[in-house]
Amino acid sequence: MKRLLTTLTLCILSLCARASALDNIIPQPLQAELQKGSLRVSGISFKCDPALDPKAREAVTAFAARLGYVSGKATTVSSPLGLADALATGKIKGMVFLHDASMEPEAYSIRVRPGLAVIRAGELNGVLYALQTLRQMLPAEIYGNKPAENRRWSLPCCTISDKPRFSWRGMHLDSSRHFWSVEEVKRYLDVMAIYKLNRFHWHLTDDQGWRIEIKSYPLLSQISCWREGTMIGRDFSSNDHIRYGGFYTQDEIREVVAYAADRGITVVPEVDLPGHMLAALAAYPEFGCTGGPYAAWTIWGVSDQVLCPGKEGTFRFLEAVLGEVAELFPGEYIHIGGDECPKDEWKKCPDCQARIRELGIRGDGHFTAEQYLQNYVTHRIQEFLATRGKKIIGWDEILEGELAPGATVMSWRGTAGAKQAAAHGFDAILAPTSHCYFDYLQSEDRDAEPLGFNGIVTLEKIYSLDPLEGIPQEQAHHILGVQANLWTEYISTPEHLEYMLLPRLLALSEVQWCQDGKRDPGRFRRVLQEYQFPVLDAAGYNYRKQLTNF
Ligand code: ACM
Ligand code: ZN
Repeated sequence: MKRLLTTLTLCILSLCARASALDNIIPQPLQAELQKGSLRVSGISFKCDPALDPKAREAVTAFAARLGYVSGKATTVSSPLGLADALATGKIKGMVFLHDASMEPEAYSIRVRPGLAVIRAGELNGVLYALQTLRQMLPAEIYGNKPAENRRWSLPCCTISDKPRFSWRGMHLDSSRHFWSVEEVKRYLDVMAIYKLNRFHWHLTDDQGWRIEIKSYPLLSQISCWREGTMIGRDFSSNDHIRYGGFYTQDEIREVVAYAADRGITVVPEVDLPGHMLAALAAYPEFGCTGGPYAAWTIWGVSDQVLCPGKEGTFRFLEAVLGEVAELFPGEYIHIGGDECPKDEWKKCPDCQARIRELGIRGDGHFTAEQYLQNYVTHRIQEFLATRGKKIIGWDEILEGELAPGATVMSWRGTAGAKQAAAHGFDAILAPTSHCYFDYLQSEDRDAEPLGFNGIVTLEKIYSLDPLEGIPQEQAHHILGVQANLWTEYISTPEHLEYMLLPRLLALSEVQWCQDGKRDPGRFRRVLQEYQFPVLDAAGYNYRKQLTNF
């Protein structure tokens, strides 16, 4: 009787283990069905279809090596011909990765049976996502760097068929207000990859520091990348008098771009213009309205000293900078900012006013002449970037005036910008402060949180975002996706950065990936506690552990 009970208990336990292994996955797959049985994976042989993208084969090899090391039993990887035929004979065993050209670019499927797992995907990202899903079905130690104590390395038998809801699944990082080393940026990309994000929006220039080497304007990485101290805490009258700076060389930029690409992530660089340019003006004052002198800002906020669109030199400068940026970043988009550009200087500047007259621009009941002047800047830059094969994205201020076809709007001041853009036939990305600003505090208990911007975005809040709310169905295809932004005025250490990112990134990933009505807060909370927090622990990330707001 005792033996029977023990056997029964073991059966129940193993059933629970299998159920929870499939339930661990964030973002939750579109379809996942658990079946009886399991596949032992320690020491398993991996077989890759030679038709797979070479980067996909590299990713499978890296996964196999990690599994072998952590589970303590070496795996093998091969690329035999005729895998599909061999499968039909039913004689093949192990973990088989097949290229399936009929599948959508980011889709994948997994079928696990005793002795055999078959993974199918059409493109690199599909394979990468299948690997992330497989990892999340294994003990959390798979994310660590040491051999595990855990000896139960098996996958539950199951069938998974998965693909994302949105094509733009972005996360932003501000490297201007505080500078993040290449290694820190890579860690950021690593955790984005775990949760199947595919766009890294890299904010590289701002009033407080210019962070990208531009060969044709070398003073940007000699003068503009430095500021003479930083305000302390929230005290705008203070300065710590510690010279602060840093920039990425073009080689480092290429390194990050390649690292991201290996993880299925496209880097979208932002050169914020025509506002947020004070650091650039510190080195090249001739592109400002007054001619300076200027200095990179030591306080947070929005400087009213901006680029002068009345001067042709300003456009030569921007075209040289963006020409180099276009070469460095292979993605189709360049973000040109366009937010928070005060127009006071333009109103007083003879060059700006002459440009307004020359163009015959007039203010009307909707927008001022100076707002239309910013439109002119946006159009010129959009036309220039088109000659380099690039499309522009701008913050929703670019909607003020008239936007040229082909621009994409990033809606940050709520979701109205996205709605307006979609209604007028423009593509849009949602990144509203209300839900997607990860520099905001994570809880109402302000005193318990580290220094941050004064708003609040709880885990629950980001999880509750309904991206297509208020968007007519026939315009929904214009909403490319969702992104969260991490501005770093108040964040100066990697630990603090990770704390602000996590676990909100996990909630974001479900908003970006899961179909409407598929998210389940109860499941999400349980999985965080039972599996995903141990994953973040094993991978060594700092994160907010309390789930008080969920
Ligand atoms: C922004 O937060 N200024 C786009
Ligand atoms: Zn001017």
